[in-house]
Amino acid sequence: MKRIAVLTTGGDAPGMNPAIRAVVRYGIANKLEVIGVFRGWSGLINEEIKVLDHRSVSGIISQGGTILKTSRCVEFRSKEAQERAYNTVKKFAVDGLVIIGGNGSFTAGHEFGKKYNVPCMGIAASIDNDINGLDYTIGSDTAINTALNAIDNIRDTATSLERIFVVEVMGRDCGFIALAVALAGGCEDVFIPERPVDLESACHDIVHGNLIGKVSWIIVVAEGAGKAEDFAKKINGITGLETRAVTLGHIQRGGRPTAFSRDLALRLGKEAVDALLEGDRDKAVGLSKGRVVRIGFETAIKKKEFDLEGIYKLIKTLT
Ligand code: F6P
Repeated sequence: MKRIAVLTTGGDAPGMNPAIRAVVRYGIANKLEVIGVFRGWSGLINEEIKVLDHRSVSGIISQGGTILKTSRCVEFRSKEAQERAYNTVKKFAVDGLVIIGGNGSFTAGHEFGKKYNVPCMGIAASIDNDINGLDYTIGSDTAINTALNAIDNIRDTATSLERIFVVEVMGRDCGFIALAVALAGGCEDVFIPERPVDLESACHDIVHGNLIGKVSWIIVVAEGAGKAEDFAKKINGITGLETRAVTLGHIQRGGRPTAFSRDLALRLGKEAVDALLEGDRDKAVGLSKGRVVRIGFETAIKKKEFDLEGIYKLIKTLT
């Protein structure tokens, strides 16, 4: 292994930059040449690449986003695009790929690596924390803290004006962010894509609470469970209480990575390079039970299993 390429694909996550820094500097320290691929798979298709030296990753450790840019590259599903990407791999004598991203990135890396016999290692980075078998992905802690800050602010006005707030957080298929912020923010309820939403029962709790003097609520909704605006209207219709909707949206994807997101990124960057140097492939590196591990792409891309019922029950019990 002499030359590796690193790319970031799919939704950006705070901590991708420290991960790039670790791959570049740890790779160079281990006598590898490291190439950066711009705009994810699209850059591999279109030869948007550049050699990254030690200095090229200076000052990025504290920055959100990704200096390599990223894209959701639908084109990469086609055979023609994949062949062009493989031609880039051959032309620039790339011996291994480090793919920093989430589920979609690993699915593509698994297919591409198998089809063209290219060693691919993934680094789990996604605000959604939806990689099966892993405790946390790079960026999830930052996103949760960003959403939590917003919820704490909303709590002030919710309490003062005695209102119900429905706050929508990111998470198309996975309710991890919603559950984490609902628990940490002391929120009264949470709607996630993994469990059926029982609006009648949520409204019953609100009306009952109101009768015994409770005056404000924050209900967190993961985007995959529905729109905050719709829920707010329905809750107002059923309870008659004043309700507001807030959608936090993409602010959750940006910002300075927290210490946890950075440390994780730096440790995983090293692990991905080590894996390629050892001849490992077709796996994602991540954190499991507090340790850095490598898990097969095929396992990583399955639906994440975690104790969502336990967290949900705790939120409801502590309300
Ligand atoms: O990166 C994950 C994620 O933030 C999801 O939570 C969300 O559904 C999606 O990306 C939004 O993607 P886009 O910015 O491409 O609309």
